[in-house]
Amino acid sequence: MEILKAENLRAYYLLDIGGELKSVRAVDGVDITIKENEIYGIAGESGCGKSTLIKTLYGMVEPPLNVIEGRVYYKINGELKDIFSLNGELGKIRWKYISYIPQGSMSVLNPVARIIDSFWDFIGSHEDISDRVRWKKHIEDYLTLLGLPTKILDAYPHQLSGGMRQRVTIALATVLTPKIIVADEPSTALDVVAQRAVIQLLKDIQKNLKNTIILVTHDMGVHASISDRIAIMYAGKIVEEAPTEVIFESPKHPYTKYLIGALPKIGDKSYKISAPGAPPSLLNPPKGCRFHPRCSYATEECREFVPRLVDIDTNHRVACFLYSKERE
Ligand SMILES: Nc1ncnc2c1ncn2[C@@H]1O[C@H](COP(=O)(O)OP(=O)(O)OP(=O)(O)O)[C@@H](O)[C@H]1O
Ligand SMILES: [Mg+2]
Repeated sequence: MEILKAENLRAYYLLDIGGELKSVRAVDGVDITIKENEIYGIAGESGCGKSTLIKTLYGMVEPPLNVIEGRVYYKINGELKDIFSLNGELGKIRWKYISYIPQGSMSVLNPVARIIDSFWDFIGSHEDISDRVRWKKHIEDYLTLLGLPTKILDAYPHQLSGGMRQRVTIALATVLTPKIIVADEPSTALDVVAQRAVIQLLKDIQKNLKNTIILVTHDMGVHASISDRIAIMYAGKIVEEAPTEVIFESPKHPYTKYLIGALPKIGDKSYKISAPGAPPSLLNPPKGCRFHPRCSYATEECREFVPRLVDIDTNHRVACFLYSKERE
């Protein structure tokens, strides 16, 4: 059952560069349908538009970012609602229905307040907390459910390790048990052990609350261990989407193959597909398939036309002329 849907979504940063209006086409025609209770991963190199996409899915669109085209729907009480027409209502459903853990989010904890006070501030801005005893119990029970010690509530953020701070941030963002959690690189910048704990925490939340998680990370190893399905994003577009095992066992798009091939394997001396270069500037992306300048299979067709993201199998979509001749 679908819970969130984006149709032909285009979100651009509109910039005034030397008196000329230019657009950074960070999200450029995205169609996705996210199902209830799944962990949906979004992968791709830096600058591909992952953060912009999930900000837009969350409805956090502020200048210079603008939605140019398309719709985002949430299924609320069995009905698909267009979030850009919800206006004031969106604020009300946020955090209870959908929560967002921004990239580099450890800073949401107030550095000069005890953790419990961050919880009071956060819950208090969405709920009536006059019954402090009941809410305190809710907070403690929730931390316990997630395997976090309740004594951290009395600590200040600086007294906790980076990994613990990140887990507390995630607990804070999800304490009102939202149906959808959007997390942007929640484990990046942590050491491997702390990274595993954060991933385990997200898995536990999903298992206990039976909610949907949209997880952005450029780290394919993290996706392998947690995501049910993965969308591969390149230069503002989804170029492939499939269940995780399909992405890893039979990737189709040359870019996906590159991302998988770039995973270091111990003792693996096998040939790695190279894709020299870096993602293009989204101010002026290349004509045709945006990956063509880095693709060893590129033909004249790829330089001229944009391949459409099409179903090549059940639950498997690819945008590449090697598999379908459909154009956008
Ligand atoms: N506030 C902004 N104003 C103008 N351009 C922006 C802004 N924020 C992001 N961009 C541009 O939009 C594009 C997509 O950026 P975005 O942050 O969504 O990528 P990302 O995939 O999340 O990258 P990363 O892996 O580094 O987090 C990039 O070209 C970036 O430079
Ligand atoms: Mg990002």
